Amino acid sequence: MTDRYAVIGNPVAHSKSPWIHARFAAATGQEIEYGRLEAPRDGFTAAVDAFRAAGGEGLNVTLPFKQAAFRYAATRSERARIGEAVNTLVLREPVCGDNTDGVGLVTDISRNLGFPLAGRSILLMGAGGAAQGVVGALLGAGIARLVIANRTLVRARALAARFGGVTACSYEALAGESFDLAVNATSAGLKGEGPRLPHGVLGKRSFAYEMVYERETPFMAAARAAGARVCDGLGMLVEQAAESFFIWRGVRPDTRPVLNELRRGG
Ligand code: ATR
Repeated sequence: MTDRYAVIGNPVAHSKSPWIHARFAAATGQEIEYGRLEAPRDGFTAAVDAFRAAGGEGLNVTLPFKQAAFRYAATRSERARIGEAVNTLVLREPVCGDNTDGVGLVTDISRNLGFPLAGRSILLMGAGGAAQGVVGALLGAGIARLVIANRTLVRARALAARFGGVTACSYEALAGESFDLAVNATSAGLKGEGPRLPHGVLGKRSFAYEMVYERETPFMAAARAAGARVCDGLGMLVEQAAESFFIWRGVRPDTRPVLNELRRGG
């Protein structure tokens, strides 16, 4: 029987993961089936149990279930434990949870975009699941400074407090600051909104990375207007998928042609 995988989320209809994994499978000669699983918001466990019972081998987990997947997993990788979120489940006994989002972001920025992270000063916007999942990987890339800014300051403080040497602040408190790289891990862009950064935080020498890839967001527009280099999160999506594929299949797909094809419109 062909090994079965899926992405589970809500909503999940527009996920590009099935397309990406089909490309990886074709390129590496792996025979897999990869589908979409939309679970009710209160029905994650039942949906995963049913998928497992039907022979499912692995799942990618997207919003809003990354914390639920963390709880579902019986064993967790270190990077999943650090972020307290899981985006990759290996459905053997015991079920293992991993998180490939952080390595996906770091690989996209440092390798695909040619922006080495060592020694850089970085602003991370947001303190929800998306931000949580990448702090460990950013710190592991040898950066010089990490500031977490969030609309709700207590959430930024709580996230920063879990790591040594990370500062938390509000957007207003960033006035007068500048960074080599600003990563938007808020969900504001999905609603056509943007974090309210003081004027001058983004400039000609900054690099602005938006995790959202579905559309041009207000953060991207503001960064462009300030003269910054701007990139969306499509490369992170492909890189985190490649790492999940590697966890499941033990084969590392070449991401470049898949990303190029997606950029051309899939
Ligand atoms: P996710 O798992 O996608 O990160 P989340 O836990 O709901 O989802 O977190 C969403 C993040 O986007 C939070 O950092 C949130 O800020 P608050 O903690 O203040 O809610 C941020 N966010 C959402 N909409 C925003 C907006 N319009 N402006 C600024 N930040 C926003």
